[in-house]
Amino acid sequence: MANPSLLILAGDGIGPEVMTEVKKIIDWFGTKRGIAFDVSEDLVGGCAYDAHGTPLTDATMAKALAVDAVLLGAVGGPKYDNLDFSVKPERGLLRLRKEMDLYSNLRPAQCFDALADFSSLKREIVAGLDIVIVRELTSGIYFGEPRGIITEGNERVGINTQRYTESEIARVARSAFELARRRNNKVCSMEKANVMESGILWRQVVQEVHDKDYPDVELSHMYADAGAMQLTRWPKQFDVIVTDNLFGDMLSDLAAMLTGSLGMLPSASLGAPAANGRPKALYEPVHGSAPDIAGQGKANPIACILSFAMALRYSFDLGDEASRVEQAVEKVLADGLRTADLMGPEGGTPVSTSAMGDAVVAALDASL
Ligand code: NAI
Ligand code: MG
Repeated sequence: MANPSLLILAGDGIGPEVMTEVKKIIDWFGTKRGIAFDVSEDLVGGCAYDAHGTPLTDATMAKALAVDAVLLGAVGGPKYDNLDFSVKPERGLLRLRKEMDLYSNLRPAQCFDALADFSSLKREIVAGLDIVIVRELTSGIYFGEPRGIITEGNERVGINTQRYTESEIARVARSAFELARRRNNKVCSMEKANVMESGILWRQVVQEVHDKDYPDVELSHMYADAGAMQLTRWPKQFDVIVTDNLFGDMLSDLAAMLTGSLGMLPSASLGAPAANGRPKALYEPVHGSAPDIAGQGKANPIACILSFAMALRYSFDLGDEASRVEQAVEKVLADGLRTADLMGPEGGTPVSTSAMGDAVVAALDASL
């Protein structure tokens, strides 16, 4: 059987720096675990614009559609701020998400014990936290029509429309239930069925998909505002949360920040399962290209490393190996290694991007 295929799009700013560390881990799996990937690399974002005059060429798009998973670093930077909207670096990322039809955005909020004091919440509330927010990504109020700013009488009116079809709700619900089966069989769905018709339909369809195909998964429903309160009050009551595009945008940022630094946060965006059962998939750190620290060896590679761990789990059915990577990260942090973004007020000496990557590889070695 052919090796699983991986397209690496390192992008701009710190993207290539953090991706260099991920490549060490990919190589480690090939040499130490006999798990080899067919890795190809290409350009996205500003670097693609520099080379080709577009943030994503048709050829790169075709490659992204053909591989089992795409791993992306970051795009953008001040050098490209004045480009025309149509060729901005972010457009490359948006095109990938759209043409791969990545409707299910997974944002884990995982609190490594060594960083629990970094949270704005008390240690006992966040220590050991491990939840995933599944955000619908391709429909809802950011896309619904009509939209715009119109004039009515003598004043302006801003309009956006929340619109969800049954099939759009059903497919993201399925994605959440599948995820739950790989975790702890528990899903909480959040909407505002008390005041929004789209929320009423959301609740009905999630329940129907559950009753028909996932009766083994424990399902609860919560209003999204109450969900925000519960996430800060006692986040460990949740495991998988599924919600729409708008609520998911806010709740995923809220949940992620329970656990600390931007340099630690991975994400996955999944689409429909292909014939081989693997979903279309793009994995990327939540952070951007960090122009303020780019080129200085200061970037934290862990968000990108954990994004690769998500690829192992969700694209390649290698959940145990994903846990191995996560435990290696946990060990390195427990040993006290910190990149500059993880330094607390007590100070200390930060390690470089490459030293952090090397330490994770060493911890992987120690896991054998
Ligand atoms: P950013 O995430 O790049 O940086 C925000 C702050 O966090 C900066 O102080 C940065 O140094 C720090 N930071 C981010 N990642 C870090 C890491 N791995 N290690 C240590 N520190 C880290 O967001 P910002 O500054 O708003 O945007 C910079 C550029 O990135 C812009 O051009 C923006 O459009 C782009 N961007 C791209 C994204 C993507 O590719 N998915 C997402 C967000 C922003
Ligand atoms: Mg956001």
